[in-house]
Amino acid sequence: MIGLLDSLARPMLRMLDPEDAHRLAIHALRFPPFVKLTADDPRLAVRAFGLNFPNPVGMAAGFDKHAEVPDALLKLGFGFVEVGTVTPVPQAGNPRPRLFRLNHDQGVINRLGFNSEGADAVLRRLAARASRGGIVGVNIGANKESTDRIADYVRLIETFAPVVSYFSVNISSPNTPGLRELQRAKVLDSLLARVMDARARMSREAGTTPVLIKIAPDLTLGELDDIVGAARRHRVDGMIVGNTTVARPEALRDLAVAQEAGGLSGRPLFALATRVLAETYVRVEGAFPLIGVGGIDSGQAALAKIRAGASLIQLYSALVFHGLRLVPAIKSGLSETLRRHGHETIGDLVGADAAAITAEPWPA
Ligand SMILES: Cc1cc2nc3c(=O)[nH]c(=O)nc-3n(C[C@H](O)[C@H](O)[C@H](O)COP(=O)(O)O)c2cc1C
Repeated sequence: MIGLLDSLARPMLRMLDPEDAHRLAIHALRFPPFVKLTADDPRLAVRAFGLNFPNPVGMAAGFDKHAEVPDALLKLGFGFVEVGTVTPVPQAGNPRPRLFRLNHDQGVINRLGFNSEGADAVLRRLAARASRGGIVGVNIGANKESTDRIADYVRLIETFAPVVSYFSVNISSPNTPGLRELQRAKVLDSLLARVMDARARMSREAGTTPVLIKIAPDLTLGELDDIVGAARRHRVDGMIVGNTTVARPEALRDLAVAQEAGGLSGRPLFALATRVLAETYVRVEGAFPLIGVGGIDSGQAALAKIRAGASLIQLYSALVFHGLRLVPAIKSGLSETLRRHGHETIGDLVGADAAAITAEPWPA
C-alpha cells in the first residue's frame, strides 16, 4: 500500500515547488491510508536514553515541524519521530523560495529559518496525542529576535516536558544568524547548566525527560572536543550528529542550485556527517548513545552509520527521492545483516568502524 501510493504520488510531488510538495505530503498524512502495522523484528529493538525503541529508524527534525502528523509517521513504520524545530513564539522564517532540490546529487538545500507555529500550537497537538504512546521527541530552538536565547530553551523545556519522550536541543541550524555560536564552549556550558536544571525542576511533574544536543557537521575537531566535554560534564543523555552542512562538497553536480545559501542535506552530506559521528563516538567513550543523521538513503547507509557509532538513526532528505517505502527497506536491510552475521541486536555493531574511520583522510 505504501509502495503504491508512493509511486503514484512521487512523480507529481517532484513537479511541484519543493515547499508546496512538502505541505501536500503533510496534508496527505493527516488522512493516512489504512496500514496494517506489522511488528518489527525484535532484533531491531534498541534501548537508549531509558526509552525502548521498537526499531532504530527515526524521522529527523524538520519534516513535521508543527507536530501535525507524528502518529501517522509512527504508523508508517518509523521507530520514533522528532517534531520541530519549535520556537517559543510563532515566527514566519525566511522569505520563499527557501527550499531547493539537487536532483542529480539527491541532496536538498534549505534556509527555512525556523518557520514555527510556536510552542502553544505545538503543545496543544502533543498534549492531545500524549496518551497514545510511541516515541515522539521535540526539537527546540530559539526565536530569531530573542534577546535571551538560553531563556527560550529553558521555557521550551518547561512547556514540553510533560508531553514528549525526549528533547533535542538544536544549537546547529545554520539558518538562524548566531545560533551556532551556542556551540562555543563557554556559552554551551551555561546553556547546558540551565537546560539540565530546568529538566530537573520539571522531573517531579514529568519524570526525567532525556535531553540530547544536536550539533553541526561543520565543527573543527577542537570545537568537538569542547562540546563532548561539556555534554559529559553536564550529563546530557545523548547527542544527534548532525544537522545540515554549510559546506559544498567538491563532487556536487547541481552546481547552480548548490550556490543557494542554506544547509545542505541528503546524499552529499553522508561522508562528512558519518566522519563527524565517528569522531564524536570515539570522544564520548560510551558515556551516552548517539543518533546518526545525514544522507541515509539505504539499508547499507544505515548500517554504515551504526558501525560509525550510531545507536539510532534518523533521515529526512532521502524520503524526497525514494519515498516512504525507504523505511521498511532500511529495516529489512538491517534485519538481514543481523541475521546473516548471527547478531542478536544492533548494539553488537555500534561503533565497530569508528576508530578506523577516524584514521581516514578527511572527506573532500
Ligand atoms: C527541509 C529541511 C528542514 C529541516 N528542518 C530542521 C529543523 O527544523 N530542525 C533541525 O534540527 N533540523 C532540521 N533539518 C535537518 C534534518 O533534521 C537532518 O539533520 C539533516 O537534513 C540531515 O539528514 P538527511 O540527510 O537525512 O536529510 C531539516 C532538513 C531539511 C531537509
